[in-house]
Amino acid sequence: MAEKKVGILTGGGDCPGLNPAIRGAVLKGLDFNWEIIGINEGWKGLACSITEPLSLEKVKDIMNQGGTILGTSRYNPYKVDGGVEKVLKNASKICPDGLIVMGGEDTLGVAHRLYKEQGFPVVGVPKTMDNDLSATDYTFGFDTSVTLAVKALEILRDTGRSHRRIMVLEVMGRHAGWVALYTAIAGGADWVLIPEEEPDIEKMCAHLKKVHEREKVATVVVSEGVKMPELKNAKEELDQFGHMILKKRGVGDRIAEIVEEKLGVEARVGVIGHMQRGGPATVFDRMLGVRTGVKASELVGNGKFGNMACLKGNSIEAVPLSEAVSVLKTVTPEWVDFAKTLFK
Ligand code: F6P
Repeated sequence: MAEKKVGILTGGGDCPGLNPAIRGAVLKGLDFNWEIIGINEGWKGLACSITEPLSLEKVKDIMNQGGTILGTSRYNPYKVDGGVEKVLKNASKICPDGLIVMGGEDTLGVAHRLYKEQGFPVVGVPKTMDNDLSATDYTFGFDTSVTLAVKALEILRDTGRSHRRIMVLEVMGRHAGWVALYTAIAGGADWVLIPEEEPDIEKMCAHLKKVHEREKVATVVVSEGVKMPELKNAKEELDQFGHMILKKRGVGDRIAEIVEEKLGVEARVGVIGHMQRGGPATVFDRMLGVRTGVKASELVGNGKFGNMACLKGNSIEAVPLSEAVSVLKTVTPEWVDFAKTLFK
């Protein structure tokens, strides 16, 4: 007879590392003799009672699977009539003893609010390829997505060199430039454009010209969220958390157009998009996922609700959810200067 009923949900954009995290949480939960319930499609699954049992069998072979076996959504119960009431009512039956919420800023923001305002027994696990969550050194998903983007950049550089072109790689990352920055540094790009910094187009073009003359190719990494006022989003293109859907702005295309206009050199764009968010996780992300998953179950087992498992140095620790969701972790000026040192 199971002692307690504990739920697990994954919300927001999926990312590699989620399945290892689910595996870790379930395997540790079995030590506590819990009945573990998978909530499907994020907060929507709790509002609409869409669930599945989670067993050893279900999680045995998921370490190398991208995505999330539970499914996900950007459903925000605070934006749907009666959403919060439904979540609370269903949770009291489905997972009365605790809920492990794996998500980024938005999903964990809901978890934090439910904990603070309703005393809802939640524990968080930080995930996002954007790496923009405070209170943890890294989020899983980031390492894998940068690894894929670096590969894409190297491939673009090869074909660009053959055709004597300037190549632009547009990457995701939303309002934080971490993915673009790490891709540019690790992939040896010649310029990077991130949301945290006004683009200096003149300076970028002058530099790309110099590199292209010398090397017959030059590369730029552009973050989808870079500020270009002429590329406004339509107002209706907001998700339930009020975020713009950035992919439709065509930032990469615009940069390539500008480069061609100003330098008279052919430019081409690669948009890696969701291809950087699937596939098997890197070892780093698998380790981070499975470790934070185990920690989350320990926190539930010890009644430490309202906390999130986080990475500090090489330790997995607990931190209040309030710290995780208070400010977005964006690229600092020191990092921008560091990247610029490498553009020669
Ligand atoms: O937050 C993760 C992320 O991949 C962002 O980098 C990107 O802007 C967004 O999700 C894409 O969301 P969707 O999968 O809903 O198009």
